[in-house]
Amino acid sequence: MIHMSRVFVTRMLPEPAMRRLQTGDFELDVWPEPYPPTDEVLLRRVSGMDGLLTLLTDRIDVKVLDAAGPQLKVISQMAVGVDNIDVAACTARGIPVGHTPGVLSDAVADLTIGLMLATARRIVEAAEDVKGGDWRTWSPMGWVGPDLHGSTVGIVGLGRIGAAVARRLSGFGVRLLYYNRRASPHATALGAQLASMETLLEVSDFVSLHCPYTPETHHLIDAKALKRMKPSAILINTARGGVVDQDALLVALRSGQIRAAGLDVTTPEPLPADHPLLQLPNVVVLPHIGSASSATRIKMAHMAVDNLLAGLWGQRLPHCVNPEVYADK
Ligand code: GLV
Repeated sequence: MIHMSRVFVTRMLPEPAMRRLQTGDFELDVWPEPYPPTDEVLLRRVSGMDGLLTLLTDRIDVKVLDAAGPQLKVISQMAVGVDNIDVAACTARGIPVGHTPGVLSDAVADLTIGLMLATARRIVEAAEDVKGGDWRTWSPMGWVGPDLHGSTVGIVGLGRIGAAVARRLSGFGVRLLYYNRRASPHATALGAQLASMETLLEVSDFVSLHCPYTPETHHLIDAKALKRMKPSAILINTARGGVVDQDALLVALRSGQIRAAGLDVTTPEPLPADHPLLQLPNVVVLPHIGSASSATRIKMAHMAVDNLLAGLWGQRLPHCVNPEVYADK
């Protein structure tokens, strides 16, 4: 009997990608709810699957891999970041992991600029006052904040997204610094100057995080790092919540150690509604919408389907996080 491949998709995807899955030559199980499957549900639903299409809200660990079984051929994630997946465990089992790099860089960079402007120019606070009927009149010092143009911006991680942010910032006439483990070959063209993390923190008016979340970047921005920043500085995080020690950030924002923060990502997501960060006027928190333009989400979903199908057919994934799995093939 011919084995019919089985695929579990952990949420409904944008329509065009969904159609491709529904007309695929495999048995399809899609989690239909708007919220992620719980860990228990995930363990049950992955059993016997050949392919998984996952989101960053699913924890894919050894337990899930064991529950899926030895026939599992591919995990394809609709996101560029894969910190929710135990990639090392997948590699050890020869399972390729797909992701969606590149297609979301511009959308995330757009939102990053939005957060810089929102925090510096106090857009959210000001709009709330207008809506609440609290705005009385134009006033010389009403709603003033620092300029983005002409400022010094420190980019932590000059990869695809960091570079897209740098390109946008050239229009703002900023001085650009970046911190990377290795010097970026694109830096000169982007007008960005390599700096130590210490220098970047000490001189930047905006510090913008664009590194992946790994054990090395866990709490990269901790109490010590925040102390190095200028009292006028603004922290922007569109990477992952875990890159920042959130308790230390709260202290820094409350005490005026730094001026403001724009966060598209937090720990956990969502923050509880009564979380102290959400009470601060100098913080803008968004619900992880960096890539949330409709065109970008459709591209990401197609890319995830491309990776999934390649894995099911035994082909190399077009965008593979752990190409080591192909080393001895
Ligand atoms: C979103 O955060 C992603 O990693 O794609």
